[in-house]
Amino acid sequence: MSLLKLSSKQRKLFTLLHIILVIFSFLFFTVCKAKESSSYARGNTFAIATDHELASEAGKKVFQKGGNVFDAYVAASFAISVLRPQSTGLAGGGFALVKSAKSGSIEAYDFRERAPQLASEKMYLDSKGEIIENQSLFGYKAVGVPGNVKGLLTIHKRYGYLSLEQVLEPALRLANEGFSVYEDLHLAIDKSKTEMNEAAQSIFLRNGNALKTGSVLVQKDLGNTIQKIILNGEKEFYELETANSIARSMQLNKGFISLKDLKDYKVIERKPLKINYKQYEIISFPPPSSGVFLFEILKFLEHQNIQSLYTDDPIAYYRLLIEAMKQGYEDRSIHGGDPDFSFVPVEALLSRDYLADRTIEVLRKSRSDVKSSGEIPKTLESYNTTHISVMDSMGNAVSSTHSVNYIFGSRIVIPGTGLIMNDTMDDFATSVGSSNAYGLVGGSKNLIEANKTPLSSMSPTFIQENGQMLIAIGAPGGSFIPTAILQTILNRLEFAMSPYDAVASPRVHHQNQPNLVFAEQNLSNKLRTLEEFGYKFKFTENRAKVFMVEREKNGHLHAVSDPRGQGTPSAY
Ligand code: DON
Repeated sequence: MSLLKLSSKQRKLFTLLHIILVIFSFLFFTVCKAKESSSYARGNTFAIATDHELASEAGKKVFQKGGNVFDAYVAASFAISVLRPQSTGLAGGGFALVKSAKSGSIEAYDFRERAPQLASEKMYLDSKGEIIENQSLFGYKAVGVPGNVKGLLTIHKRYGYLSLEQVLEPALRLANEGFSVYEDLHLAIDKSKTEMNEAAQSIFLRNGNALKTGSVLVQKDLGNTIQKIILNGEKEFYELETANSIARSMQLNKGFISLKDLKDYKVIERKPLKINYKQYEIISFPPPSSGVFLFEILKFLEHQNIQSLYTDDPIAYYRLLIEAMKQGYEDRSIHGGDPDFSFVPVEALLSRDYLADRTIEVLRKSRSDVKSSGEIPKTLESYNTTHISVMDSMGNAVSSTHSVNYIFGSRIVIPGTGLIMNDTMDDFATSVGSSNAYGLVGGSKNLIEANKTPLSSMSPTFIQENGQMLIAIGAPGGSFIPTAILQTILNRLEFAMSPYDAVASPRVHHQNQPNLVFAEQNLSNKLRTLEEFGYKFKFTENRAKVFMVEREKNGHLHAVSDPRGQGTPSAY
């Protein structure tokens, strides 16, 4: 219709609509840009991406005071334990990949929680062999032996320049002086408040209600514990007063952790897992992490010409991606576990023959009709676990994910310590075929045994080119972690997106069981056609939040804290 043929009234209406559209587009663009600017930072010397602005700032300040990347990491990690008690804490555990530019070596520190010595395969089953609801999730019995303090202090001792006092100063101040409660924290408290013990409620509730957004959260007991760690080092947490408080409280409340468990806790140094992908070397955390399954999926896709599929035939691309994810997660449930207790066939899973075999299978499925049924796992929230990526212009780097597992872990605070205890025992298979809080199905290799480490989805990862550090990346998000890292890597290495777009772009996720594609809303138009092939969808925001730092060849740095969350990176 020509504009000339319209009446003057119609023309006015048309112009008005046009103006509204322009204003709306402008506002949308401005909001997107504002989100991008708070989620992205650029620097020439140092960059860090975390899940809270003040944790990123803590890392940067410690670096500027003469610390190195490793000091900055430890500072940011202790700070985030204070700032995101729903996600991680001193009584949690994690993994860290550490690269020293000077030696060129990469090390993998496993300081994840371990099953206490009193733990046994059927500890969460009743006399009829039925799972006792929530026993691996809430309360004293759900707690694994924590590793964060020992892990972080080991890395600090080995690599740090500054004293523990200087490095823990920001965390101590945030605990003692407090900080403003943000929306995510308020919601997490509200969701967890009924299962919290009295000590936890006294910190996070006022008159029975969750602390409101904008109010100040002060954690004096936690401040005292941090102060004692500054004085006594890791011994404070594993042998001295704090250890005794944990053991006493456990005994009083029929928990399993003893003083001996704490004294015997060991950080395990593992051999980092490496693959070549095109001209890159990708390094991830070995089992009991899920890095191997992330690699398996990546290797399926490496030779499938996904660049042209992505632009010319997105439906075919997404089918391939989804089927590759399903295969990876099927293998995870069969083969995943603690390699010190059962054999995890890492080499076989990544061998050319196995991958070729499975690739044929994946390709076949991605071209034929698939009939699926699906049910939604009980949790889709993203309040828990955290990741820190940090790097300097020389290529010193840390990529570390840590956690208390579910939102506020076991929801137990040890009285007088301010410590939120993890519930990472839920990451074990309580029985073969049962699923955990993230809907992940456990196999026999992940059954509970004393001193064993539960299988994890946390997969801190590095990417190098010609031996030079390029990217440090990782994410919280339970079962969504490996697929979020995978797609960010593909976005960056295959589809040439900017670092920010690589993280922010919409994602899909499939974990084999339930047989359901989790896709972000802005992919719905693109993907609806797949319903014709029998795929079932749940359109929802991706539960994982990616934290990435990238280094250009000239040393310039880019840091991105996923815009899906409230984190802000920092750089200079
Ligand atoms: O290690 C794991 O796989 C889980 N404990 C991680 C939990 C997590 O990322 C929760 N995030 N939403």
